[in-house]
Amino acid sequence: MIVSGGIAAYKCLEVIRRLRDQGIAVRPILTRAGAQFVTPLSLGAISGDKVYQELFSLTDEHEIGHIRLARDADLVLVAPATANILAKMAQGIADDLASTVLLATDLPVMVAPAMNPLMWSHAATQANMRILRERGIGVIEPGEGEMAESNERGIGRLAEPEDIIGTVTGFLGGGRLKGRRALVTSGPTHEDIDPVRYIGNHSSGKQGHAIAGALARLGAETTLVTGPVQLPDPAGVTTVHVRSAQEMLAACEQGLPADVAVCAAAVADWRVAERAAEKIKKDGTGQPPSFRFTENPDILKSLSAPGNRRPGLIIGFAAETQTVIENAVSKRRAKGCDWIVANDVSAGSGTFGGDTNIVHLIRGEGETDIEHWPRLSKADVARRLGDEIAAALETAS
Ligand code: CTP
Repeated sequence: MIVSGGIAAYKCLEVIRRLRDQGIAVRPILTRAGAQFVTPLSLGAISGDKVYQELFSLTDEHEIGHIRLARDADLVLVAPATANILAKMAQGIADDLASTVLLATDLPVMVAPAMNPLMWSHAATQANMRILRERGIGVIEPGEGEMAESNERGIGRLAEPEDIIGTVTGFLGGGRLKGRRALVTSGPTHEDIDPVRYIGNHSSGKQGHAIAGALARLGAETTLVTGPVQLPDPAGVTTVHVRSAQEMLAACEQGLPADVAVCAAAVADWRVAERAAEKIKKDGTGQPPSFRFTENPDILKSLSAPGNRRPGLIIGFAAETQTVIENAVSKRRAKGCDWIVANDVSAGSGTFGGDTNIVHLIRGEGETDIEHWPRLSKADVARRLGDEIAAALETAS
């Protein structure tokens, strides 16, 4: 674990302690800036290991060189990761022990960024994050909150220790959903009309992607089937990219068997019956073309049909603009799924494309079967749903 500088560095002590409680050994590498915030003594005591600090230290190199440090582990975690170390990683700069290990390693790497919100939103940091994500680096997303060193609010605060621990244990196979398989759909579908046009919708995929990430962090072997979205693939998830509802259904069937399926995609209900092979041209009469539509397969309903490949727990979403609960209750019955997460997507709710969601978890038709959750970030909705899923599967087995 690499601890770089930043006021949040003190939280790494709790992370290390709790990882060790779960039987995970942690070997700390402390950057020079990191040592301004936590002492090598406390890091050494908590980790029960030597703290590695200098690239050119004769004893360190004698005992265990930077190349071995970069190899002898299951995962390299950078927490907190400053803007500086992220920039070095993106550019391949190796000018101290931590950055040299990061350049020399072929192990999976995860970063938990922490910095001032302006530094996080700066185009340079965001460009570096894009590079790191494209390289498959796992990102434990920073949260929103008040910064410790100023009164500024915004995104940049180190993820909570429990999220960091959950991500690491999930990755290393120790989470509550270890040994379980999960299937998640996310995003919109695009139904082609001709080679250049399609029918789509405003789904951003944020909620579905967050759920897939949360299930993977709990240790589930997770497959995400997503329509076209502007989001990075979540860390630790097998992501299958599709365009149309028909492709999404086929990919979901490939993703079976699964213990739990969560259908969060906003699947187009219809497609044009005959997709034109060539771009449809104006015919000069001033008359718009007319299309014959045909209904798309209902993925949630099809997964929920009785049969031995039916996942034990199936959760649908109900995107509603009016009488949200009533519509969702009848949707649950019509689709045959076990739970339905109802959310209000009416104009002004901020759900489509936004970062928060107000949802109601419906597990049956009685008063007590319906839970009303407060406004939560989509990440928190995902986490909470992940915990509910883990509890239900634990009870069922
Ligand atoms: N769903 C699906 N396949 C479809 C349509 C919907 O898997 N062809 C799933 C969605 O992923 C969601 C649930 O069904 O989990 C409900 O989606 P929603 O759009 O709210 O409902 P519809 O079935 O489209 O019904 P309506 O548009 O009439 O409200």
